[in-house]
Amino acid sequence: MNSLRPTVLVTGASSGIGLATARLLARRGYDVLAGVRCHRGRQTVQDEGMQNLSPVWLDVTRDDHVEQLIAEIRQTRPDGLFGLVNNAGIGPPAAVELSDIDEVRRILEVNTLAPLRLIQACLPLLRDARGRIVNISSLNGFVALPMVGAYSASKFALEALCNSLRVELRPWKIPISVVRPGQIGTPIFDKARTALQERAQQIPPELGYGYSKLYARAAQFNERGARAATPPEAVARVVLRALEARRPRLHYVVGADARGLGLVQSLMPTRWFDALVGALAGASPSPAVPERNGAAPATPPGAGDGSPAVPLDSRKRRSSWLALVQHQARRTSTSSGAPNSPR
Ligand SMILES: NC(=O)c1ccc[n+]([C@@H]2O[C@H](COP(=O)([O-])OP(=O)(O)OC[C@H]3O[C@@H](n4cnc5c(N)ncnc54)[C@H](OP(=O)(O)O)[C@@H]3O)[C@@H](O)[C@H]2O)c1
Repeated sequence: MNSLRPTVLVTGASSGIGLATARLLARRGYDVLAGVRCHRGRQTVQDEGMQNLSPVWLDVTRDDHVEQLIAEIRQTRPDGLFGLVNNAGIGPPAAVELSDIDEVRRILEVNTLAPLRLIQACLPLLRDARGRIVNISSLNGFVALPMVGAYSASKFALEALCNSLRVELRPWKIPISVVRPGQIGTPIFDKARTALQERAQQIPPELGYGYSKLYARAAQFNERGARAATPPEAVARVVLRALEARRPRLHYVVGADARGLGLVQSLMPTRWFDALVGALAGASPSPAVPERNGAAPATPPGAGDGSPAVPLDSRKRRSSWLALVQHQARRTSTSSGAPNSPR
């Protein structure tokens, strides 16, 4: 370890974007602390054979790991920390309805709370070195797509934290950049493949007509994505730019897919965008589900509970929503003063 060069901590550096970033920063001359949480990861980093690239034991969800690492950096690097790159992340795909709550908690723990934990722990060291923070978000941090609801929630939340922090840290001039990669060629696709194969078997039979196609399409997109993905080195170069630019950008989008989808979403009305994404993802309205014949309930509100029913005048084509609102207003005015009415 060399404490004379500026030190950068990269989390989740055992593979993919984290490894490519750690490698590039080390080649550039930084003293890189590469977070790993298993022996295979440590070996992978050591195999890079660079003196200024050191594996450090860091499960980002563990307070004790973070505390120990911070203490070590404080002891060995009097200049503090020049960069924190929050990269570690997980993203097992699942439909929102079928997501396991414990897994969602885990995704939020790794992708949202862990970066926050690291930012809080590293800020004193970053202040010492007039350092910078780079967070790896995702295309799914600004476009929520089917099958990645929990992952998107974690990245949207991460971006929200960054938005607040960016302003709060202005007094110390600590820049925060958010990197939003599209599909990047890393082991994340293998992990998604395994998860999708397992989960497709677990779809409840009665929901098969809605979800089977969605899972099958997700698997197809995963394979296509794996083949057409941008190499992780492209993200690494962007991280380097965020660390070195005189005025680092707030957001960096990496990959034509991320830029394209973001543009389409910003130009299209949401319903159109949903219909487009639904058609591509295999989530179009199913013919197996009967239409509701307009939005009006079969029994008008009020019928059966003693209050007057709403007359649905089809000739005037009054929307059932309007009817509902008018009905509600009428009920409120007739029931004012009743013992259980809101005050
Ligand atoms: N690849 C893409 O298409 C893509 C697109 C947009 C954003 N991203 C984001 O890019 C980041 C890196 O992903 P990747 O594509 O490079 O995937 P990856 O190759 O699977 O790398 C994920 C890294 O995170 C580490 N990690 C997971 N849980 C951890 C924990 N609790 N503590 C410490 N490290 C942990 C993994 O370590 P182990 O090896 O020990 O599991 C691994 O080093 C993630 O934040 C991901 O959301 C990826």
